[in-house]
Amino acid sequence: MKFFVDTADIDDIKDLAATGLLDGVTTNPSLVKKAGKDFIPLIKEICDVVSGPVSAEVAATDYETMRKEAEVLRKIADHVAVKVPLTPDGLKVCKELSDDGTMVNVTLCFSPSQAILAAKAGAAFVSPFVGRLDDISSDGLSLISDIVRIYENYDYFDTEVLVASVRNPLHIVESAKMGAHVMTAPPSVIAQLYKHPLTTSGLAAFVEDWKKTGQSIL
Ligand code: E4P
Repeated sequence: MKFFVDTADIDDIKDLAATGLLDGVTTNPSLVKKAGKDFIPLIKEICDVVSGPVSAEVAATDYETMRKEAEVLRKIADHVAVKVPLTPDGLKVCKELSDDGTMVNVTLCFSPSQAILAAKAGAAFVSPFVGRLDDISSDGLSLISDIVRIYENYDYFDTEVLVASVRNPLHIVESAKMGAHVMTAPPSVIAQLYKHPLTTSGLAAFVEDWKKTGQSIL
């Protein structure tokens, strides 16, 4: 499973890139607002730190303007994935960019039928929002299961399932069991993946016992 981080905070991205476990970055207008920096230079800065796909979202919702914005975004770097909303106009932009060799991440996917459309439009990634479905008492993870199963039926669907709106480690583990290709999570959730109380207590005991041996490896 590929790990993307869902943030526009350059310090968090640098920290995660240093772990060697980071495969890409996703941003959205809300995350850019939170970062409080100019969008285009920010995406460039992120692309200089991470060599995997960096999702940068269009701001417009109409075809003409999205198409123009996409041109600006894809020129930032070859590994920019232009993020478009799952709308008829967004998918039209997706098809054109994908046919032209640009990675597209189709965002705001909330149903299997939408995911089929994204694959038919040639998206590199489709982003189903697990947490936001859970928030309205719908089963976010069952959407992931449905999309993975549907895509497996068609060899010619090259779209990767990018599990988005991840709120906790279980979203990641369950999606991995289902065979989702990618997940994107905030830095706080990625940090939670490392944690287990038995690791903490076991390590403390080993450190204490090692001290008692009076030895040193170095
Ligand atoms: C995906 O690309 C989105 O940026 C993100 O996962 C949305 O998550 P949220 O529901 O926590 O805002």
